[in-house]
Amino acid sequence: MEGKDFSKIAVIGLGYVGLPLAVEFAKKGVEVIGIEKSLERVNAVNRGKSYIGDVSDETLADVVKNGKLKAFGEFNALKDTDAIIICVPTPLTKNKTPDISFIVSVSKEIAPFLRKGALVVLESTTYPGTTEEVVLPILSESGLKAGEDFYLAFSPERVDPGNARYHTGDIPKVVGGINEKSTELAASLYGKIVPYVFKVSSPRAAEMTKLLENIFRLINVALVDELALLSERMRIDIWEVIEAAKTKPYGFMPFYPGPGIGGHCIPIDPFYLLWKAKEYDVDISFIELAEKINDSMPDYVINKVSYALNSRKKAINGSNILIIGVAYKKDIGDTRESPAFKIISELLEWGANVSYYDPFVSEIRVGNKTFKSLSALSKESLNGADCTLILAAHSVIDYDFVLNNSHVVVDTRNAIKQKSDKLFKLGDGNA
Ligand SMILES: NC(=O)c1ccc[n+]([C@@H]2O[C@H](COP(=O)([O-])OP(=O)(O)OC[C@H]3O[C@@H](n4cnc5c(N)ncnc54)[C@H](O)[C@@H]3O)[C@@H](O)[C@H]2O)c1
Repeated sequence: MEGKDFSKIAVIGLGYVGLPLAVEFAKKGVEVIGIEKSLERVNAVNRGKSYIGDVSDETLADVVKNGKLKAFGEFNALKDTDAIIICVPTPLTKNKTPDISFIVSVSKEIAPFLRKGALVVLESTTYPGTTEEVVLPILSESGLKAGEDFYLAFSPERVDPGNARYHTGDIPKVVGGINEKSTELAASLYGKIVPYVFKVSSPRAAEMTKLLENIFRLINVALVDELALLSERMRIDIWEVIEAAKTKPYGFMPFYPGPGIGGHCIPIDPFYLLWKAKEYDVDISFIELAEKINDSMPDYVINKVSYALNSRKKAINGSNILIIGVAYKKDIGDTRESPAFKIISELLEWGANVSYYDPFVSEIRVGNKTFKSLSALSKESLNGADCTLILAAHSVIDYDFVLNNSHVVVDTRNAIKQKSDKLFKLGDGNA
């Protein structure tokens, strides 16, 4: 068996990336073994209970019931698989350097079960060179020869949690293998679930592709954040300007300002490249500048809250501040790297009483304090707050109701479209 028909594969790490991917293959009739460290998640998958917003219970239960997806906590379930896809986290250390310990540990766990002819694909976002410099040597400890006895590739994951239009199964994949056969096999594996696979010449090119995509986003958001702050001073509404610029049919792509970037990717991945670039004595200052602007946004929000309260002769100290949306973006419950944490912790430090409402996030922990979401946004809760602060503009919220029942509103997302002297909007000098 040369590992070509991919009738049985494994996905390691059943999180935001791995679970939708495993389900997509299972839906196409591939037998999928999911390997997951969290036993709670293993049990949930095997009961058909989804914990990832983009996968419904119904879809998960379907593939589990027909035997196409089964989750395990142990790596020996890997034996007999034709392909192994790694989707484990790639966080930062305390000093903002890459923490690839998850990749290293799963590579070590895979090596003893690697079968002749199998394909291994790394999907975790990482610096260029990881597949060849880290994963390849570890897998080679199995005694199998890379590129001959087993095949290895990198394929970046581009899933956008909560995106109603694009899901795992309709986003093109990029693949780059350590040799031509590895690239071909990876392309044929993903060809089972996506409409288009783009082949690049090496894993490094595929790793860099993902970083280019995310750094592009980081830099453009930072640029529009900076222009928003300038527009505010110049009494120009940046949101109106973006709408106008969007009418250009080519050469412009809209990005929107906000309270700071969140999520598992954009605030983290660029640091992987910054770190690697040092090895080559290259200073990639664009990333550092964008990070600096992004890091300053929560402070800007605090200032804006202070300004809004000041207009009512109040101070942050002793005021009740109600936050709407603590997820890092609208319509999802993901709070990873959400700017809400930094903003809440500063508001607390300034002496505010903070509460929040987020229909997707029932509880958060900031420092050693636990906050529970209000169960609903009522007239009383809005009226009881000295200032309402919108950080994530979930679509299910009635923003006219919010404005009408609040004393003052700081809106960092352009959620409120009507003009009002109660409204203090990021990037709108007229608000
Ligand atoms: N979330 C996104 O939107 C997104 C998008 C593109 C790329 N990525 C990248 O994909 C990778 C995975 O991200 P994610 O968001 O799915 O992370 P996640 O934390 O949601 O999921 C990772 C899963 O791996 C499991 N895990 C950790 N160590 C393990 C081990 N040794 N064995 C088995 N399972 C293990 C965790 O328990 C978790 O369930 C990261 O590199 C990330 O940068 C994420």
